[in-house]
Amino acid sequence: MSRNISLLSGKKDDKNSLFGKIAVSPTTVTDSQLAGEYNMGVSTIHSTKSFYDFLDEDFKNRRAYVCTGSACLCRGTQDSVSNKLKEKFGAENVGEMICLGRCYENSAFHYEGKNYSGDDINKLEQIVAGKHTSPAYAMKSYSDVSFLVENEVFSSYEDFEELLKDCFSKDKSELISTLKESGLRGRGGAGFPTGMKWEFCQAQEASAKYVVCNADEGDPGAFSDRYLLEEQTLKVLFGMVACGYLIGSKQGFLYIRGEYPESIRATNRALDKLRELGLLGKDILGSGFEFDMGVVEGQGAYICGEETALIASIEGRRAEVDVRPPFPTVEGLYKKPTVVNNVESLAAVAAIFKLGGETFEKIGNGRSTGTKLISLDGYFNNPGLYEVDMAAPMDFIIDEIGGGFNEDIKAIQVGGPLGGIVPLDILRTLTLDFETFNEGGFLLGHASFVCIPRSFSAVEYAKHLFAFTAHESCGKCFPCRLGSTRGEEMLHSAIEEDQKFSEELMHDLLETMEAGSLCALGGGLPLPIKNLLEHCAEEFAPLMEK
Ligand SMILES: Cc1cc2nc3c(=O)[nH]c(=O)nc-3n(C[C@H](O)[C@H](O)[C@H](O)COP(=O)(O)O)c2cc1C
Ligand code: SF4
Repeated sequence: MSRNISLLSGKKDDKNSLFGKIAVSPTTVTDSQLAGEYNMGVSTIHSTKSFYDFLDEDFKNRRAYVCTGSACLCRGTQDSVSNKLKEKFGAENVGEMICLGRCYENSAFHYEGKNYSGDDINKLEQIVAGKHTSPAYAMKSYSDVSFLVENEVFSSYEDFEELLKDCFSKDKSELISTLKESGLRGRGGAGFPTGMKWEFCQAQEASAKYVVCNADEGDPGAFSDRYLLEEQTLKVLFGMVACGYLIGSKQGFLYIRGEYPESIRATNRALDKLRELGLLGKDILGSGFEFDMGVVEGQGAYICGEETALIASIEGRRAEVDVRPPFPTVEGLYKKPTVVNNVESLAAVAAIFKLGGETFEKIGNGRSTGTKLISLDGYFNNPGLYEVDMAAPMDFIIDEIGGGFNEDIKAIQVGGPLGGIVPLDILRTLTLDFETFNEGGFLLGHASFVCIPRSFSAVEYAKHLFAFTAHESCGKCFPCRLGSTRGEEMLHSAIEEDQKFSEELMHDLLETMEAGSLCALGGGLPLPIKNLLEHCAEEFAPLMEK
């Protein structure tokens, strides 16, 4: 069934995507017209629509939205933000969004297509009058060679053209070798070698292939992909064009989360300019190579960051995770070979092709190479977005880059809601790379750092993570769908109703989720919960019975 929908969706028009039409279809296009156009049942369109927060009528009718992400929660700013928004717009007009990527100063909210944070909440009059924009945040490279942040490597449309010409003049296998030599591993979480992924896809025989940029950065605490899309747009787009050229694809998609409207606008502006300059479209720079790409706007579903759910989403299916294999490089979008890469992975390609694979490979520990963006939240004295060498000592990151903390911190959740919660004394012994984090039983993920202050209840944080998963579960497997809800209920009853929960039952629940979930949402949640149970045992003890 889902295979048929994929094929029908791909047949019609791969440039706009069925999902793009469902999400932004004017009210003049009814669900049955859309279904008819794609030769599908109307229930398919209904079922897709009902999956997404942003497509819910009640959600759409709000005027302002309060961020409910982990960093804002830990900072304790959001009750006040919510009250001020309700006072201004009326309680019925204020909704919620999960992480707006403003974790460096918190107090985040969304109003009419723009995000705000920090002191912005006290400037509502000016915001409504269109006379206020958020101030810039700190961004800096701490690497001797900056691949991602500094502009001297790659910044202008002229640089884009020059580097593309250089690529066209080289043998494709030489370019793939450069990428493999760089040791670049996917920055979306799994750390799969990018050069190998492109080579697999290149080797496939198919009538069409696709390049997909995974810009769904749903991890609360991370804003590195947002930074790249807004400030280094051309690097990301170059990576996609280069990928298209090397694997033999004519079409790319950037799946950008709807919570990042500024990223969507910046990307669309750059795409228009590239088309105007003839750097996208047919016969680019007289090479005979044709490639274009479009933005697909996410509609508020975290699971769309998982690559098979993302593909399902673009196709206009419910964003449920699919079993792998087949992997997307063999059977991806519209059942055609597809490279799905994270924003940061793609952005790194431009600098690798410009500076050479060896320059990238020399940085790091040999297995985690190059530089990595890190997102530091508002509990650091120097919050912001920084580029560091892979394998940089965490002490250096905490003290020299972050400048220490402005509050007593007990642990930090690194790498999103499924990442480990690392007590500060342990974190200080690690280095920032895939290996050290894995060996320690944690995850590097997007290298986002959400600080949990001593004053914030570990039990509340565990409840927040269960609630997040319950809300974002795609629902395909019951250990995740039901387990996350049960976990939230157990902790809710313990906190609010003085009802102790069974330690054994909690561990059973976590084991079941870990063993029985298809993807890393249900399967990954037990890690931070177990970390909390272990490292903050004294906070759980009064609420648990043996
Ligand atoms: C629950 C879940 C959420 C994910 N969210 C993201 C995401 O927001 N961005 C991302 O690039 N990868 C995310 N991933 C990983 C993708 O499935 C995929 O591995 C990645 O996009 C591949 O790109 P890379 O090789 O460049 O890392 C997620 C995976 C899971 C299981
Ligand atoms: S673990 Fe959760 S999100 Fe992942 S496939 Fe199962 S139900 Fe869906």
